[in-house]
Amino acid sequence: MERIRVGVVGCGGMARGHASRFSMILDQIEITATCDIVQERAQAVADLLPNQPFVTPDWRELYDHVDAVLLVLPHHLHHQATLDFLSHGKHVLVEKPMANSETECLEMIHCARRYDRVLMVAYCMRFHPLVVRMKEILDSKEYGECFQLSIWTEQLTSYAPDHWASSAKTLGGGQLFSHGCHYIDLMLWMLGKPVRGLHLGTNTGTPWMEREGTSNVTIEFEGGKLGYHMGTWGARGSRLGYSFHAHCTGGMLEAAFGEGKLIIHNQQPVHDPNNPHAVANQQVLLEVKHAKPTEVEMAHFIDCIRTGRKPLTDAVGSLEGLQVIWKLYEAEAQHQMADLSGMGLGSLRL
Ligand SMILES: NC(=O)c1ccc[n+]([C@@H]2O[C@H](COP(=O)([O-])OP(=O)(O)OC[C@H]3O[C@@H](n4cnc5c(N)ncnc54)[C@H](O)[C@@H]3O)[C@@H](O)[C@H]2O)c1
Repeated sequence: MERIRVGVVGCGGMARGHASRFSMILDQIEITATCDIVQERAQAVADLLPNQPFVTPDWRELYDHVDAVLLVLPHHLHHQATLDFLSHGKHVLVEKPMANSETECLEMIHCARRYDRVLMVAYCMRFHPLVVRMKEILDSKEYGECFQLSIWTEQLTSYAPDHWASSAKTLGGGQLFSHGCHYIDLMLWMLGKPVRGLHLGTNTGTPWMEREGTSNVTIEFEGGKLGYHMGTWGARGSRLGYSFHAHCTGGMLEAAFGEGKLIIHNQQPVHDPNNPHAVANQQVLLEVKHAKPTEVEMAHFIDCIRTGRKPLTDAVGSLEGLQVIWKLYEAEAQHQMADLSGMGLGSLRL
């Protein structure tokens, strides 16, 4: 089978991460071009690859070299770059968040339809083996009904004042929009239809952020389920790191990303007629030492190009997640609870 020619556009921090993990799929793709306005960065990513890709500072020079692109650009450039590549007949895997406004997202969706190209958003957490297994267990109700999903992401991330991520305009918001979008997407995927929610953010602790660098979200979902996400870029220390707790009626599922483990915590009855009691039980359900979600994500993108299948993280679903975030921000500014009824995955008819 012919390998699909892929270009990497934007060769900063995340692109270097992507490039160092492409090896698993190099039988399916060839990175034929790298692009960054700072040419040395494009060259540095090219140097990580086994072949010698075409290197350029101008993404418009890529059209003859690629069938598809991975856009790893500042958020305010996602929209224009996506339109340019789609309208030149290229498939697009764009990093999250899809774009900084609803109008831009809609234009991207319509453009992909018009040119009949795959447009996928890089929500790599959906492809993480611990997340995939947790979702399967929640769906199967193996440990009963889930009534509380708590997600913590605690990290220290800082940007120079002139970096695009320090400005709310180019970032598109604060920590919730930029990073929390992964976890709003996961909550909607795992817990279903939202009813109402609340966001509170602060930039105390992350003074380099124009908007919040620490974000707390609580969402009520249909069926009495609650979702909570606390994400911070200001953690000078952390015990939890990246951690999910899914409380179900039959036990608590813990995804401990630092340890690479999915653990069930529950009570085990002790059948002693003289002393019936229960003891705490802990069992590792899955252990993954070196998860490679971005490779699985790229393999899924390639499969969608070859088969015409709808991406798991398609553009419409991504917009639906961002709409929830924009609604939460709007309500926060008005000191109100956000009415999220009618929103969530599967709510848009376009
Ligand atoms: N999925 C994840 O877990 C994850 C993690 C980090 C970042 N990201 C996403 O990746 C994207 C990039 O983030 P980053 O942290 O790598 O940022 P970055 O600032 O490190 O890299 C962006 C690169 O784009 C280049 N660039 C800017 N304008 C350009 C243009 N017109 N043409 C070509 N190149 C241009 C910059 O020179 C820079 O090298 C963002 O969407 C971000 O949210 C995703």
